[in-house]
Amino acid sequence: MNTKDQQSKIVLVTGGSRGIGKSIALNAAKRNLGVILTYNNNPEQGQAVADTINRNGGKAVALQMDAAKISSISDFAGQVLQALKKEWNRDSFDYLVNNAGIAQRTLIKDTTEAIFDELVNVNLKGVFFLTQKLIPLMVDGGQVINISSGLARFAFPGVAVYGSLKAALEGLTRYFAKEYAERKIRFNSVAPGAIDTEFGGGKGDESHRQQIAGMTALGRLGEADDVGAFVASLLSDDSRFVNAQRIEVSGGIVI
Ligand SMILES: NC(=O)c1ccc[n+]([C@@H]2O[C@H](COP(=O)([O-])OP(=O)(O)OC[C@H]3O[C@@H](n4cnc5c(N)ncnc54)[C@H](OP(=O)(O)O)[C@@H]3O)[C@@H](O)[C@H]2O)c1
Repeated sequence: MNTKDQQSKIVLVTGGSRGIGKSIALNAAKRNLGVILTYNNNPEQGQAVADTINRNGGKAVALQMDAAKISSISDFAGQVLQALKKEWNRDSFDYLVNNAGIAQRTLIKDTTEAIFDELVNVNLKGVFFLTQKLIPLMVDGGQVINISSGLARFAFPGVAVYGSLKAALEGLTRYFAKEYAERKIRFNSVAPGAIDTEFGGGKGDESHRQQIAGMTALGRLGEADDVGAFVASLLSDDSRFVNAQRIEVSGGIVI
């Protein structure tokens, strides 16, 4: 069991080097949280996010992590512990945001086993084992937020495996909430709608963007900050009784 000291709370954000994860990291720092963010293939971008936070009076560390390399997750947990001790003089952190994810547009008929496995490894298996290995470093009463997708609720052609994995992630969120209730750790999933990032190679041409905007009650694609600001707002005791929930941040897509 971990005890929490009086220092500022700390969030670990996976995939904090770009897109939604970067926005979650920056918005969490604005709310005075210490930030551990991860990158995978883009160390410069990961470090740049940490540098921005540190320059603006916050505290952040960037660590490399590949969610698909399950065998490296124990080592990663060790690096997290080292960073906590060195930067914050703590041996625990408060919030985990499982944001890192990948998509690949492929119709079911064209989906190979390799594509399937890569999607599973990053979007579900990696999240499962990363969370399993990091929970011992979390304070009792902490919170885990899993970033899901609107595609867990409705279906578009070309994203069958991805959308199904996000639906599974939402199910997993409830199971974790059940098993870690004893430690009062809360688990919620946040499901973004169509967000304008580099995800899956971008959001396509202008007509595709307009089509998505037309399916959205607020009439536009989301920005990374639409999700980042919201997720950061959940990282507080104000959300203390929200548990095992799915919250969509989509401007009302496909309603
Ligand atoms: N954008 C959307 O429309 C949308 C909609 C619904 C849900 N989402 C979800 O939101 C989350 C973030 O999406 P995004 O749009 O911000 O994506 P993004 O701009 O493509 O950024 C992806 C982030 O994940 C990291 N990452 C990629 N593969 C990884 C791996 N194998 N291990 C660890 N980290 C890895 C990347 O790190 P490096 O760059 O360092 O490799 C990057 O920081 C994902 O879970 C996605 O499914 C996105």
